[in-house]
Amino acid sequence: MSRLRVAVLTGGRSSEHEVAIASARSVLESLDPDRYETVPIEIGRDGRWALEPGSLRELTNGSSVAATLPVPVSRSQPATLGGVDVVFPVLHGPFGEDGTVQGLLELAGIPYVGAGVAASALCMDKDLMKSVLRDRGIPVTRNVVLRPGGALENPFGYPVFVKPARLGSSVGITKARTRDELEEGVALAFRHDEKVLVEEFVDGVEVEVGILGNVEPVASLPGEIVAHADWYDYGAKYDEGGMELVVPPRLPSDVIEQVQDLSVRAFVATECEGMARVDCFVRPDGEVLINELNTIPGFTATSVYAKLFEASGVPYTRLLDRLIELALERHRRRAGLEF
Ligand SMILES: Nc1ncnc2c1ncn2[C@@H]1O[C@H](COP(=O)(O)OP(=O)(O)OP(=O)(O)O)[C@@H](O)[C@H]1O
Ligand SMILES: [Mg+2]
Repeated sequence: MSRLRVAVLTGGRSSEHEVAIASARSVLESLDPDRYETVPIEIGRDGRWALEPGSLRELTNGSSVAATLPVPVSRSQPATLGGVDVVFPVLHGPFGEDGTVQGLLELAGIPYVGAGVAASALCMDKDLMKSVLRDRGIPVTRNVVLRPGGALENPFGYPVFVKPARLGSSVGITKARTRDELEEGVALAFRHDEKVLVEEFVDGVEVEVGILGNVEPVASLPGEIVAHADWYDYGAKYDEGGMELVVPPRLPSDVIEQVQDLSVRAFVATECEGMARVDCFVRPDGEVLINELNTIPGFTATSVYAKLFEASGVPYTRLLDRLIELALERHRRRAGLEF
């Protein structure tokens, strides 16, 4: 049996560049070499695509597929992704997780792991995502949207969360306790996006769930996030010992089921495919709210997504196999459609 050629696309233009590279390293180390031939591709913060030495030749030789996807390695050396069986985008934030790369892969006709164009773009935008969830009766945190030059608005009192609409890893997010902090937080968020959310503070337990699948998505066991900080900020996410993941959460079993059920519903409502990590809050009275969906969650073997599936009986290597199967399955299914 010939091996599948998997391009692992990583880095990217966003501030989560390094986080993505750490995830991709894990993926590359764990893809079974008997089953897969890997082609690492790193997108620089300047947007340039670079292949590891040697892989350019492998990619361009023997490629029978039309040259649909230009991968500028340098001005003089355009390559294509035509010789790849499936692309695994391990990219976070804008120009990676937001449907742009997914659109390029759709145009190129190459199967790829994870959410499609619409779901990626929708879930990247915390405000639009919540509009869709609300429309389907799925409870979400309340927010208002600020635009550059518009009035400062905060109907929620203090503390309040301020976020760029389309980013991740807690970059640009502030928990504002006063009007001054709100103004500073809004200015910070506008450095990252031209759309900013002011969001009600939810005083509850943070719980995350992994979702895996296309047509019949399944939920992992949820995990409770215990941040060793006032909230789950960048440091708590990535510093050694910054957080603890408690699986399953210290919550009643009916609440845990509710978290899983709502997370699957949120995945279906936003038309996600392949994978997502759903971040939820549980209020003291047991009410579950969806905070956000991440279509390309942190993906090292010790990231929350992988740990949750590990605890649910799906080890990391099996998770990777499954995601690649799902990418190919979607591609086959959609290839039969008439446009
Ligand atoms: N409305 C809220 N109430 C209470 N805490 C919040 C609220 N919004 C965000 N937080 C805190 O800030 C953290 C980051 O928020 P959020 O998940 O929206 O950002 P992100 O940058 O997209 O994160 P990720 O790394 O998961 O992509 C949350 O995990 C939580 O600790
Ligand atoms: Mg989050």
